[in-house]
Amino acid sequence: MPENETPENETMEPQDSKHRPIRSFVLRQGRLTPAQQRAIETGMPKFGVEYRPALLELDALFGRNDSPKVLEIGFGMGDSTAQIAAANPQNDYLGIEVHGPGVGNLLKLIEASGLTNLRLIQHDAVEVLKHMIPDGALDGVHIFFPDPWHKKRHHKRRLIQGAFVQLLCSKLKVGAYIHVATDWQEYAEWVLEVLSAEAQLVNSAGGYAPRPDYRPLTKFEKRGLKLGHGVWDIIFRRI
Ligand SMILES: C[S@@+](CC[C@H](N)C(=O)[O-])C[C@H]1O[C@@H](n2cnc3c(N)ncnc32)[C@H](O)[C@@H]1O
Repeated sequence: MPENETPENETMEPQDSKHRPIRSFVLRQGRLTPAQQRAIETGMPKFGVEYRPALLELDALFGRNDSPKVLEIGFGMGDSTAQIAAANPQNDYLGIEVHGPGVGNLLKLIEASGLTNLRLIQHDAVEVLKHMIPDGALDGVHIFFPDPWHKKRHHKRRLIQGAFVQLLCSKLKVGAYIHVATDWQEYAEWVLEVLSAEAQLVNSAGGYAPRPDYRPLTKFEKRGLKLGHGVWDIIFRRI
């Protein structure tokens, strides 16, 4: 290979000592229920976007021009995603998740609610951002309850890192927001620190933000709040 070329897996991504890219997720083999399997078969061709290293035309993807475009990273089972899309028909939402049962579940919810403003991609969000999202295309990014990777030796796997936030910023319009929510205080402090260090962002709240009405309280969160556990919302804007 010529000296000035880098192989595909040796890009700017952080790597471990065996030169594997460090991922923010572990691919669990979770079994699909028959309903999720059916939803994937019928829903994926309509609402799924296949991963390809080619820029997406977001207006064309949603079939309308100039509607705000919000990206969600790691939608899990997709319950909040579907609720947010249903409550905000003026916006278009693109959800990214690697976990198959979550993808199946969200496709089921899309069909059940007749949503037309939600699409999803089953792939690593870092690669989707790098290769599929045009610069300056997004009005907002939701990252709700990202894996906190509690142990210190796993902190390198946390999604929110300086280089990742820089990548995210390049995809935001001026004025667009990044909204992170977490129930792990030490990760909340980490996120606040990493986002505050990014010169292209400004904190919308001067600290933690009150939960905006558009983010629904999850069952899990309600239970935690009853037990006195905290949840932190962090919202920054691109300047
Ligand atoms: C703790 S769960 C939270 C799920 C959901 N947002 C919620 O609030 O219930 C984090 C999710 O992020 C997904 N995830 C983590 N890193 C990701 C990445 N790089 N690309 C896509 N999904 C990712 C995981 O598969 C997991 O489902």
